[in-house]
Amino acid sequence: MTRTLITGGLVVTAAEETHADVLVEGGRVVALALPGSQRWSADRVFDASGKYVVPGGVDAHTHMEMPFGGTRASDTFATGTRAAAWGGTTTIVDFAVQRRGGSLRAGLDDWHAKADGNCAVDYAFHMIVSDVNEPVLRELPGLVGEGVTSFKLFMAYPGVFYSDDGQILRTMQRAADLGALTMMHAENGPAIDVLVEQALARGETDPRHHGEVRKALLEAEATHRAIQLARVAGAPLYVVHVSAREALAEIAAARDLGLPVFGETCPQYLFLSTDNLAEPGFEGAKYVCSTPLRPKDHQAALWRGLRTDDLQVVSTDHCPFCFKGQKELGRDDFSKIPNGLPGVEHRMDLLHQGVVEGRISRTRWIELACAAPARMFGLHPRKGTIAPGSDADLVIYDPHAVQTLSAATHHMDVDYSAYEGRTLTGRVETVLSRGEVLLDRGDYLGRPGHGAFLPRSACQYL
Ligand code: URP
Ligand code: ZN
Ligand code: ZN
Repeated sequence: MTRTLITGGLVVTAAEETHADVLVEGGRVVALALPGSQRWSADRVFDASGKYVVPGGVDAHTHMEMPFGGTRASDTFATGTRAAAWGGTTTIVDFAVQRRGGSLRAGLDDWHAKADGNCAVDYAFHMIVSDVNEPVLRELPGLVGEGVTSFKLFMAYPGVFYSDDGQILRTMQRAADLGALTMMHAENGPAIDVLVEQALARGETDPRHHGEVRKALLEAEATHRAIQLARVAGAPLYVVHVSAREALAEIAAARDLGLPVFGETCPQYLFLSTDNLAEPGFEGAKYVCSTPLRPKDHQAALWRGLRTDDLQVVSTDHCPFCFKGQKELGRDDFSKIPNGLPGVEHRMDLLHQGVVEGRISRTRWIELACAAPARMFGLHPRKGTIAPGSDADLVIYDPHAVQTLSAATHHMDVDYSAYEGRTLTGRVETVLSRGEVLLDRGDYLGRPGHGAFLPRSACQYL
């Protein structure tokens, strides 16, 4: 059994930060001790002096190889999980998709086939339920039994993933009975479609109009409605990719009432804005995602929500489409630009920038990026922390290294960076997944097939 020792680093978890040596054996953390206090022998020693030792990141919202917008997300499970490892993320939770007219079983089997044997890091699945009816609802217990304990519904995208309020209520009722978590894409899709049609009729075809028709009020309205439906169903609710301050206010109000309502935001909403969507030429297409980027002044509200725990999780919603040939599908019509941004590689670093800028503490960084997503989706304490018995998913993080993000140097299979030229302080140096070294000082040592499927238990906040 290989023994690995990481010495002298500042071990940061959601709960505390302490200088400690970390001993790994058989893929698990077996002990922490005061630096130099134990005479542990090891096959491999990493000196983490002056660095942080943090849990591997848990990205609870990715879309590898997802068919969407007339094309397919450009990262496969092989390329996307490799990029995740480069960025210190050692677990992803991806969204299996039910095809309309198809069963959940078939959708989940498709996703297992895509991921099996290809992943560099561990992975789990949520299920997108896009066609709610009685036979489909009867499939839910089977999925929960297989460790797929969360279901995403869409109030947006009529004709694609959209569910009406009745379908949402029925699914929430079943999910509540099963102890499963309903995840919601909260935007009023039918109203947005009217505004899209009217904008196009006025000749407003540029990418910036994507942000204008998908109004903050329509995100807030849908968030409010989702919360009330969840209350009626007696179900917990997790609102994905919150971008509007008004939607966050709905979540905060629900939480103030003591309701089991949770919220997620993403780095793009913390660092990018409608200014990017309005970049000249067709450049704005690079920033088309839904919910959309908002005016810059929403960012402060989101950072505040992260501090006050009105938002609990930062995920990427990684859904990359190349500029050439994919984003270009919408050159003459913004509504045909495939929705989604690349980001799985940069979440840990972008959120660390929040630490550097004094917006969040180090322990909150790890809570938002590792511990809370692991707890939210039934993976804690195996994932998301550093404690005896946890998987040895460990990152040695250099908080002083400076890096510049660019498509020329990133590892995601997409031809642009949403953060091109942005300089960040802090960088992943070494990554272990279940004790195996995936990355060490710029050398990638991971392999497809190392990553294993993780059946999940229920949300641990309930
Ligand atoms: O634009 C986005 N977010 N694309 C991915 C699908 C979704 O709604 O999460
Ligand atoms: Zn969504
Ligand atoms: Zn998504």
